[in-house]
Order: sequence, then structure tokens, then C-alpha cells
Amino acid sequence: MAGIVVVGSQWGDEGKGKIVDLLCQTADVVVRYQGGDNAGHTVYHQNEKFELSSLPVAIINPNHLAVIGNGEVVNPKALLLEMKMLRERGLDISGLRISDRAHVIMPYHIALDALCEQASGGRIGTTKKGIGPTYADKINRRGIRMVDLVDPKSFAEVLKEFLPEKNNEITKLYGGQAFDFQTIYDEYVEYGRQLEKYVTDTTVLLDKLSQEGKRIIFEGAQGIMLDIDHGTYPYVTSSNPVGGGAAVGSGTGPNKINQVVGVVKAYTSRVGEGPFPTELKNEIGDKIRETGHEYGVITKRPRRIGWLDAVALRHSVLVAGITQLSINSLDVLSGLKEIKIATAYKVDGRTLDHFPANLRILENAVPVYETIPGWSEDISEVQRRQDLPVNAQNYLNRIEDLLKTPILAFAVGPHAEQTHLLKDPWSEDKEVLHTI
Ligand code: GDP
Ligand code: IMO
Ligand code: MG
Repeated sequence: MAGIVVVGSQWGDEGKGKIVDLLCQTADVVVRYQGGDNAGHTVYHQNEKFELSSLPVAIINPNHLAVIGNGEVVNPKALLLEMKMLRERGLDISGLRISDRAHVIMPYHIALDALCEQASGGRIGTTKKGIGPTYADKINRRGIRMVDLVDPKSFAEVLKEFLPEKNNEITKLYGGQAFDFQTIYDEYVEYGRQLEKYVTDTTVLLDKLSQEGKRIIFEGAQGIMLDIDHGTYPYVTSSNPVGGGAAVGSGTGPNKINQVVGVVKAYTSRVGEGPFPTELKNEIGDKIRETGHEYGVITKRPRRIGWLDAVALRHSVLVAGITQLSINSLDVLSGLKEIKIATAYKVDGRTLDHFPANLRILENAVPVYETIPGWSEDISEVQRRQDLPVNAQNYLNRIEDLLKTPILAFAVGPHAEQTHLLKDPWSEDKEVLHTI
């Protein structure tokens, strides 16, 4: 089996959904390996717009398997709603498979996420989907898995065991409202009943497909800078979007991964709290936000905007094992007189070219910028790298040089036709930079 992992290289919303959809055309299966319905992946497929949240992007591609891996956390209510919406749009979703080992987001997780954020004055700025509390329970061995949800007896046992503890936390720590066992049980057993036919051992399934020589795309959610281990901790999500997370979160050996595609937005965006050295709190940031329609898919929050940060991106290339880049939203930068890239940070007179773990250092980091002249042309219909304005070509070349990683694709708009592959993504050929 050949496998490509698609990761977000920044703080999420780089346009991963669109790239997965594109690569999916040359593959057989797509597996989501982490995150949950905190993700919002936009795809324009045959001129229809889809915003996928829990479901892998392959679900809109007939003849593909769309697998929710063991590493994803599943809100059954939200998932069933997403499935219903797709069915109502005439899609056949029979290619869905859900790992029996995936953990379930319970209503008390969602309540705890909101209560904890409220109590801390919105410290992290989470999506309030219950992601952190669900992963915390998983690690703390108090989780409920899909295999339990679809078995009423087992579900009753685990819910009985864990609910009192959760209610204690909700009521005593946060002064919230306790959940009633029977109400949750009745509601969730019904979700289990509806989802049962999709739930299977996806590890065995992927192994079988592997032996048949099938191609697999591992769809990352969030971004490397939001990774629980490698991101701007604690201002991160609670899972591992990095390339290695694909193996853990799908039950596939790392030897099955051939390439890691790092999706990069041509500038930077971030939703929620946390350090952001290249943030633009000025009219340039506002202009990019409006041109790029930078408002969250899930929470509708305006995204924070900044210049491209090569220090953060170098870190992502390193920790995620990125082998190829896919640069999105180049069109959004059209019309800017000049464009900046942070190549290092200055902290107390010292130059840092590695992303620091210490947030205090990061908060005081002043980006060292390199300025590249912009371009005024509308590039939204450009199809070949060599037909881009020379300054846009220079920008791409500079990104390749700074990250020492070749560009697989560039995009000049949100549609598939505006996204151009420069080579066969599955090729194992030695990479050459700037092949124009
Ligand atoms: P994801 O979470 O990484 O899949 O990305 P999102 O869907 O949350 O956010 C990316 C946004 O950028 C979406 O609104 C996309 O339609 C849009 N987008 C993706 N690629 C491009 C591009 O090349 N140009 C422009 N203008 N928009 C893009
Ligand atoms: P996609 O897959 C951008 C951010 C939240 C918050 C932090 C923690 O669409 O790129 P969480 O609810 O996960 O506990 O919130 O992570 N966040 C995202 N930001 N894109 C996402 O997903 C995100 N998922 C979570 O805003 O700062
Ligand atoms: Mg998104």
C-alpha cells in the first residue's frame, strides 16, 4: 500500500480539505486520524460547496472509502446530522467506515469544554466541541469507545461507571448542571443503533486494502502548530496532527507512509488564543481577511491574520516529516505592494531561527522579515507556475528555499480547477527545487 499524509502546516484552515479532495482522485481510501468536529474542511466539488467536519473528505467521492480512524473523536449526534445533510444532497455515503476503537464525544465533554473555557475567561478559545475533555478521558482511561456505543449492555456499564465522576466535576467544580443517566442512555443507544452498520475494525480493513495494493490518503485536521506535543502549548488542540499521528490514529504502520504533504496558506491565519509572532493587526491584515474570506467554518469567528512565518514552517517540516508543500491562496495576496516572510525571530538581541518551546520567549519574539515585491495582476486563472507574475514565482521559489522542501501544488483559488499539481504526488523520484 502507498500512503500520503496531508497535514496543515500552520494553525489550521490552510485548505487541507481541498487538497485531500484533489489527491483523493488518485487514491482509493481517505482516513481521518485525529481531531473531531472541531475541524471544518471546505471543498468545492463539481461546483458544489461542502463543509465537512467529522467526515473524511472522501465521503463526497463515490467509489471511495471514507474511514474515521481510531484516533478521531466522534460526536455521534453531530456525525449523524452531517450524514443526513449529505444524504439530502443526494450523496451515497455507503463508503463510510468508523473505527470501533474511536472514542465518543459525550454531552458531558461538551459541557465541560464550555464550563472550563468560561471559568478561565476563554483561555484557549476552543471550539467548545468537547475535544479536550474527550481526549483527556481517553488518556485517563475513562473514555467510551464506538465499540461500547453500539453495544447497549457495554454502553450502560461504562456510562454508569464514569457519569457520576463527570457529574461531580460539572456540579462541584464548575457549578454546572448534572446529566441524567437514563436520558443520555436512551439518546445515545439510539445513535449507536443508527451508526452500528458503519462501525468496524478499520485496522483490519486498512491492512486488507494494503495487501490489495490500494492507495490511501491520511487526512489531517487542525495544523502542526496546534499539535499537543509540537505546537504552541497550551494554545493547541488535544491531538497529534503531525505526520506520525497518521500511523497511530489509523492503526497503520509508519512504513506505509510514502509522502507527507504540508498544506501551507500563502500567509498565516489563526483562530483562538495564543502567540502569533507575524500577526498583522492593521489594515493589511484586514484586507487579507476580507479578500480571503477568513472567517471560521465551525465557529464563524474572524481569523487572525499574519505574514508567512518560515520559522514556524521550518518547525512544522521538521516535526511532521513534510516531504512536499502545497501552497494555497496565492491569489489572496494579489494587489499587495510588498509581501513579507519572517525568516527568523529576534529575542533580546539574539537571533532565533528555531521555533522556541518557551511561550515567554515567543511572546517577545520580533520577526526578522524579508520583503518580496508583490504583484498586481489577477492570477486566479493562471494554470502553470511559469505563467505566474515573476514576483509570485519569486515568492514560491523563496518558500521552497527557506523550507528546503519542494512544491507539489499551488493554488490561485478555492476550486479544484484553480489548484495545480506540479508532479505526480505518488512519485518517489528525487525532488528538485524550482522545477520551472
Ligand atoms: P481546512 O480546514 O484546512 O480544510 O481549510 P478551511 O476550509 O477551514 O479554510 C480554507 C479556506 O480557504 C476555505 O474557505 C477555502 O475555500 C479557501 N481556499 C482554499 N484554497 C484557496 C485558494 O487557493 N484561494 C482562495 N482564495 N481561497 C482558498
Ligand atoms: P481545521 O481542521 C483552526 C483551534 C481552536 C483553538 C484550539 C483548541 O479546520 O484546520 P479545540 O476545540 O480543538 O480544543 O480548540 O484549536 N482549532 C482550530 N483552528 N482550524 C481547525 O481545524 C481547528 N480546530 C481547532 O480555535 O484555538
Ligand atoms: Mg478549517
